[in-house]
Amino acid sequence: MENTNQQKTPLCDALKDYISEGIMPFHVPAHKQGRGLQELSDFIGQKALELDLTCVPGLDNICKPRGPIREAEQLAAEAYGADDAFFVVNGTTSAIQAMISSVCAPGEKIILPRNTHKSVTSGLILSGAIPVYINPEVCEEFGISTGIKPKKIKQALKKYPDARAVFLINPNYYGTAPELEESVAICHSYNVPVLVDEAHGAHFCFHPELPLSAVEAGADLVASSTHKLVGSMTQSSTLFINGDRVNPKRVKAVLNLTQTTSPSYLLLASLDIARKQIASEGRQLLDRTLHLTRWIRNRIKRLGGAKLLDQVEKIPGCVALDPTKIVLNVRNWGLSGFEAERILREDYKIQVEMADLYNIILLISISDNIRTVEYLWKSLENIPKRYPRKNVYRYCPPPPPIPEMCLSPREAFYAETEELRLQEAEGEISAETITAYPPGIPLICAGEKITREVIDYINILHREQVDLQGTEDPEGNNIKTVKRVAYTEMEKEEEILQVLKGEKLGN
Ligand SMILES: Cc1ncc(COP(=O)(O)O)c(C=O)c1O
Repeated sequence: MENTNQQKTPLCDALKDYISEGIMPFHVPAHKQGRGLQELSDFIGQKALELDLTCVPGLDNICKPRGPIREAEQLAAEAYGADDAFFVVNGTTSAIQAMISSVCAPGEKIILPRNTHKSVTSGLILSGAIPVYINPEVCEEFGISTGIKPKKIKQALKKYPDARAVFLINPNYYGTAPELEESVAICHSYNVPVLVDEAHGAHFCFHPELPLSAVEAGADLVASSTHKLVGSMTQSSTLFINGDRVNPKRVKAVLNLTQTTSPSYLLLASLDIARKQIASEGRQLLDRTLHLTRWIRNRIKRLGGAKLLDQVEKIPGCVALDPTKIVLNVRNWGLSGFEAERILREDYKIQVEMADLYNIILLISISDNIRTVEYLWKSLENIPKRYPRKNVYRYCPPPPPIPEMCLSPREAFYAETEELRLQEAEGEISAETITAYPPGIPLICAGEKITREVIDYINILHREQVDLQGTEDPEGNNIKTVKRVAYTEMEKEEEILQVLKGEKLGN
């Protein structure tokens, strides 16, 4: 039975009412619904500027919503089957930061996979939480890191009974979904809340052929990029809350620490309308999307050469795949993913979602149709003909062990630093996080001791032309490290603190 509630768009209605009342604005923004900035109005359209309003009576207040924003948030919670929801206009990044700070005070531990998005590192720095990293599984053929196995989560929970939360990713950028339900059940058996980065899974609960959503799996907090896969405008996301392990009032208070007090109503309205559409027509829209993905996947398979990421049983740490993400490994075409991306852009005016050394990711969404997908297919089909096989990249060796953590990411971030040549930095504490793509796992995180193995491994990756990200030095030859003097000062301070707290008295 259709849920008539989900036909409502309270936020959009409030905006329409405000405009139709013909109110004369003596308030910000200064363009006053487009009157004062003709060029911008001509560029993006008068209607967009008319809707570019801010928190005024009738339009609610994002910091303490009690009117149409709150109503729209509750409809979003209902559509996703969650207990509560908060709209976020600073991207999923700020939802992730808020999730971490909601459950971890400075110095408290959080268990998380090593291959998280950089918003997690910023969440660790802002909260002062101490990460307990678990290495994810790796699919060597595609050079990608995937999920962490439930048994590793259980081991970590046993080893760190004081951990305040477990952070998981569902799915990763490549659409691989982990054993979420089992992992959540394990965490809950330890009464530990589960936070999920679902930046790439906002559409999951609207079609049975898609992987299980984090809310369905019982996660406690879920950061969902409505803007990435459900159609709302860029930067607009939703944070879902489930169960009673996390207090929604705390979550809102944390969100309010960093979220703007002047939200864009264009973004908020887009969240309202996108939720209405996915809740009421999601099944049909995704039926069509899945049909299109099957259509192109079958053709690509017949083409040979390039490989599709499509065999769940061959991907460690993965129990389901999002078929709307076409992950194409182009190594057998003799190209790197970066080269394939450039060819598609320059020769065919197609922009991929992402490229790495081995793969390109192409996103088929609810907005595609047979014409766009056919054009994509025709372009892909031409590439191996026009660019005959050149060189084949070698696989990367398995990464070195996770180095010892000497400082928290927050301490390393705020410490006095110096730039050293990487070759000479053995034994120093890194102030930067260096990640290799593929497979997207940091080799060293801020606060960890730089080992000989890490340096040797990075040397190999440089030779293999692997993309290394995270250093301020664009060439990656130098690394920022924590100045020794700063480190010893911090150790001293820590000792004094422990003595003051009486923790050292027994020694
Ligand atoms: C896995 C993952 N998490 C979080 C984010 C952050 O989302 P946003 O760009 O909305 O801040 C991204 C962005 O690409 C992502 O890929």
